[in-house]
Amino acid sequence: MIDLSSVSVTWTLVVLLITLLFIYGVWPHGFFNKLGIPGPRPWPFLGTFLSYRKGMCDFDMECAKKYGKIWGIFDGRLPILMITDLEMIKAVMVKECYSTFTNRRETNETVAGPFADGITIVKDERWKRIRSSLSPYFTSGRLKDIFPTAETHAERFIKNMLKRDQEQPVKIKEAVAPYSLDVVTSSSFSVDIDSINNPDDPFVTNIKKFFQFSLFSPFILILTLFPSVAILLSKMGITLLSKSSMDFFYKALRKIKDEHNKESNGRVDFLKLMIQSQISDEQAVDTTSEQPIKGLTDHEILSQSFVFILGGYETTSTTLSFLLYNLATNPDCLQHLVEEIDTNFPFNMPVTYDALMKMDYLEMAINESMRLLPTFPRLERTCKKTVELNGVTIPKGTLVGIPTYVLNRDPQLWGCPDEFRPQRFSPESKSEVNQYAFMPFGLGPRNCIGMRFALMIMKLLVVKLLQNFTVETCKETQIPLELNVILQPKVPITLKFTPRSQRD
Ligand code: HEM
Repeated sequence: MIDLSSVSVTWTLVVLLITLLFIYGVWPHGFFNKLGIPGPRPWPFLGTFLSYRKGMCDFDMECAKKYGKIWGIFDGRLPILMITDLEMIKAVMVKECYSTFTNRRETNETVAGPFADGITIVKDERWKRIRSSLSPYFTSGRLKDIFPTAETHAERFIKNMLKRDQEQPVKIKEAVAPYSLDVVTSSSFSVDIDSINNPDDPFVTNIKKFFQFSLFSPFILILTLFPSVAILLSKMGITLLSKSSMDFFYKALRKIKDEHNKESNGRVDFLKLMIQSQISDEQAVDTTSEQPIKGLTDHEILSQSFVFILGGYETTSTTLSFLLYNLATNPDCLQHLVEEIDTNFPFNMPVTYDALMKMDYLEMAINESMRLLPTFPRLERTCKKTVELNGVTIPKGTLVGIPTYVLNRDPQLWGCPDEFRPQRFSPESKSEVNQYAFMPFGLGPRNCIGMRFALMIMKLLVVKLLQNFTVETCKETQIPLELNVILQPKVPITLKFTPRSQRD
């Protein structure tokens, strides 16, 4: 005989569990209603996450059109306050950066793995110490020291391009990525991988693995829906970033650092500078010192080295690919740039740091390309205390998102926003560009620390490339460019390069 009372107890428990689970899934979704902020309707557990399927930028554009300058979305259960109001952006990125908006999205230490003390992730006082220790490495004086190294790699890149079968079109990111990696590794640790000629070097294969993840991978979905389960998974060795690659880099960097410790002279690089001001773990947490503590611990040095590799590799090669695509599809602008290059650096004339930095049109074209196709379509800051900005109360703990792509395409801020017009960044028109509406490298104290380094290595490559080659679209070039969810080309950008010696 069936015991009815035990059946009903079981059912009651099941119903209770489902109810509790449902409440867990929708609990935070009243957040923006309470604040009177509009936004798309969230799904239980998922929030508005699935709307990214149409592309993060398209979703942001759609919301801006529907809701105006401020709206709320949910990555799973996490509320994100999206803002395009320029006064609010100024407060978040600059004015209140130290007091309230110092940090990015909370990244669980277990999920971030050994990378948790990287500058992009650390918070508050620790971030301030690491940032102030690293900033002196990116002054123009330091960049000038690195310039000859970058030039050697740019030269090698050109030689390699000249060796290729000139009839074959070039998948541009594949071609320039080894240059980015080589410049970053040699200026960071004086290690010459020569990935241009050794595409199977473990540094190359491991870094590629790092960037192979999809926004809708099971791990990201779990991270979004159940952050605590993701911690459990990472303890089991399942992480967002490839664990084997992470281990590879930490081992390799440890070896490079130990070898640097032994060397007494040789070239100066970022690693050597960090080692010179290394502090102990105890010194790093010393609260008795009256002076702000400077320097990095042993592990922090390894992590920042790793951040430089990650920060420098993907971003510069993606930005260069977009720039070359925009130039090839806008031959008038390309012609203008080639004329500037030919005037400043006629064929085979060496490129100097100072002259390179004075190339106005090159800078204008890079800016315009980053406006049309930003490498980072969103910026983020966490609000660490409840504040009121422009009449809006932002509760402590709220993640604030700035959709740079939306700002870059706003017709109220830019004439013909979908067209490639470097002229808008000319010295005469530049004053009309609002700095809070154009932030390809972020803004304020927590902006991109490698900005000047990135610009230097990108400018150098473009000049060398256009000194030696003409660039054109070909039948393999996808026009217009179709981008995936995270603003990467669906089909690799492919262009035709012809040696100028054959054409001129
Ligand atoms: C075209 C190339 C690059 C672009 C478009 C780019 C863009 C950005 C952006 C948008 C941010 C976030 C800024 C913010 O939150 O306000 C950032 C942060 C950062 N970038 Fe870059 N970046 C580039 C190259 C580099 C390079 C070459 C390095 C290192 C050598 C680097 C190192 C960093 C670091 C360390 C941060 C975090 C800074 C902090 O938290 O204090 N980036 N970058």
